[in-house]
Formats: sequence, structure tokens, C-alpha cells
Amino acid sequence: MSSLVWVELDSKAPDYNLKELRRSADKDTLFCAVVKSNAYGHGTALMLKLLPSADWFAVNSIEEGQELRALGVKKPVLILGHVPIDRINEAVQADLQLTIYNKESIEALARLNLYKKPARVHLKIDTGTGRQGVLLEEVNDFVTDLKRREGIILEGVSTHFANIEDTLNHDYAVKQLVVFKDALKIIKGQGIDPQIIHTACTAAVILFPETHFTMIRSGIGLYGLWPSRETYLSTIMGHRRAPDLRPVLTWKTKIIQIKTVPEGSNVGYGCTYKTTRETRLAVLPVGYADGYDRALGNVAYVLVKGKRAPVIGRICMNHTMIDVTDIPGVELENEAVLLGNSDHESITAETMAGWAGTINYEVVTRISPLLERRVV
Ligand SMILES: Cc1ncc(COP(=O)(O)O)c(C=O)c1O
Repeated sequence: MSSLVWVELDSKAPDYNLKELRRSADKDTLFCAVVKSNAYGHGTALMLKLLPSADWFAVNSIEEGQELRALGVKKPVLILGHVPIDRINEAVQADLQLTIYNKESIEALARLNLYKKPARVHLKIDTGTGRQGVLLEEVNDFVTDLKRREGIILEGVSTHFANIEDTLNHDYAVKQLVVFKDALKIIKGQGIDPQIIHTACTAAVILFPETHFTMIRSGIGLYGLWPSRETYLSTIMGHRRAPDLRPVLTWKTKIIQIKTVPEGSNVGYGCTYKTTRETRLAVLPVGYADGYDRALGNVAYVLVKGKRAPVIGRICMNHTMIDVTDIPGVELENEAVLLGNSDHESITAETMAGWAGTINYEVVTRISPLLERRVV
């Protein structure tokens, strides 16, 4: 059965990327593979199979954690996001580790009376990202409260950097690291010695060995994408080893109609494109409902027979039109590559992100989970 729009995953690339990233860290540093949000749009079930070397997995929600367990994952799974208070028991039952930063979550855990098999939690410190996490000045109270609760073990401590991938100047990340180390001192001062200390996203894995602690927590690099141009430049300028990251994903569709329209024809909603010559127009069955960003209208290219075909007119909900006048021999149901390589041409997630005014993370993550994923 053939699909009209699908995503191909390179079977070798994910674990290859993981091993490349691991080379930046000490041998015994654990590797937590971040597979939240449908494995950054790549498809969770297949990506899990393609990452046999991961030690831990991180997801955003309880639903994602339960999905991993249902798929047979036996390794530790950390939920990075909030678990609703009334579902904390479900998370514990599924043996999912919780990221903790609200006292209400601790109270809910304590009410479960988990004496026989304590829940293992990871305390998140907000070191300056202004997202989830306990502020430095709250850490002492928080840990005092946690200590007096039975059935809860503080297994891990974490933080997340605010701008490590956005800049060539890493002063802010260094400040965040200082705050994190202060928080660790407070925790250890209370006689607790959490075993899993983790702060490093992909950019930190590559650029800052001092952020690795006992576990690195990488997402984008596993999918073969650099966190940003700044991360790449910082790597080169700092004479660090640049991991050889191989993009995992190719996004494809098939041409569903080809026709020749005269010069002066309007194309698509709003009549935003008018042909300036007799044009071979091809229709693709992909649109913004599939995650093909509406901002790509009249801007992007797709690859047909290894050549660039311009997107003409607006992106519709389910359709996109391209100009194949300059590509000989195009036929109905020929493949069109939206993202990835075709012969010697390539459209990278970064190129598409530039066209759409966003970042590579968003480009891949927003590919509709409803589309077929297949391993090649
Ligand atoms: C808390 C947390 N840790 C780690 C990551 C992984 O970051 P990256 O994909 O840059 O490696 C993310 C990604 O958003 C995150 O939110």
C-alpha cells in the first residue's frame, strides 16, 4: 500500500549520531536520548528501535512515557514536563521518573505511601531559563521538605540552559552553571547525594564538558541536526571536535497532477502567483495540515528528479503547487522531496527553517504524526 506523503528514516543514522555525540563525553557518562514530541517529529516507535545505545529516554508528558512503556521500553524514562497531580500515581505505576519542581507534586507522591518501592524523582533547578524549576533561594526549603517525606528518593538533579545554542558568547550559560553548582552544594549539604546529575542539551554536550556531570541529555543531535549555526561556529572557533551528525529524516510526497497552464495564469488561494510564461505546474498532496509551513508559499523549493522546483502560490491545507517547467520528463506520481536529498541536491531542515522564519527543531517536530514513517 503506498502513501502519498511519508517520512523516511535512515536506519543507521540515529545510533551513529548518538555515538558521535558520546565521543564528546567521558566513557561512563550516561546518555539520555530525548524523544519527546514524537521523537522531534521523526516517529517515536521507530526512533526507539534505532537508538539501541541510549541508556535513558526523556519525554515531555505522562502520555509519552506510557507510550514508551507500551512499546516495551525497559530502560529508565524521565518525564521532563508536568505530570498532572491527579495522575502522579499512574506515572509511578508505569515506573516513570518525574521531574519535580512543585511542592504539590511531592505532597501527591507522599500521599501514595510508596514505602516498598519509593518513587525516584529528579529535582529541576531554574538557573536562569525562567521555565520550570526551583529557584536557588528555594532549594534548601524544597529539599528539607523532600527529605522528611517517605517513599521518595531524590535520584537526580537537573537544569536546562537558556541560550547556549543562540550565541557565540557563553557567559550566561557559565553563570547558569555556577548557580547549578551552588544548588548541588545545598543539596549535598543536606546529606543527599543524587546519582544522576544532568544539564547538557546537544549544544552543551558538544561545547562544554563541564556540563556533562553523570548524564548528558541530548535531542536534536540524535536526529542529525546541529542546534544552531552558532553552535557549529563555537565548536570550530573553540577548536573542539565537531561531531559528524547525519540527518535522519527525508520527507517525501508524490505528484498527483501535472498540467500546462498559459502565461498569466493564477496559482493557488489569493491568486498570489501569476505565471510569467507557459508553465508545467505540478500539484503535491501536502499542505500545512501535514506540517508543511504556510510561510513556504512562493518561497520554498522541492526536489524532483534531483532538481529544484519552486513552490508557486500559497500552501493550502492539503495541497502545494510547484513549477516543473524546467525539469524534463516529470510524470504523474513521481516523487518529490520536501526535505532531504535527491541526487546531488539537498534541502536541509536549516534551509527550510530559513525559508519559513523558524528553526530546524520546529521544522521537523511539526511534521504531522499522522504521516507514515518508514525505515530505509
Ligand atoms: C529539558 C530539556 N532537556 C534537553 C533537551 C534537548 O535539547 P537539544 O534538542 O537541544 O539537545 C530539551 C529540548 O528541548 C529540553 O527541553
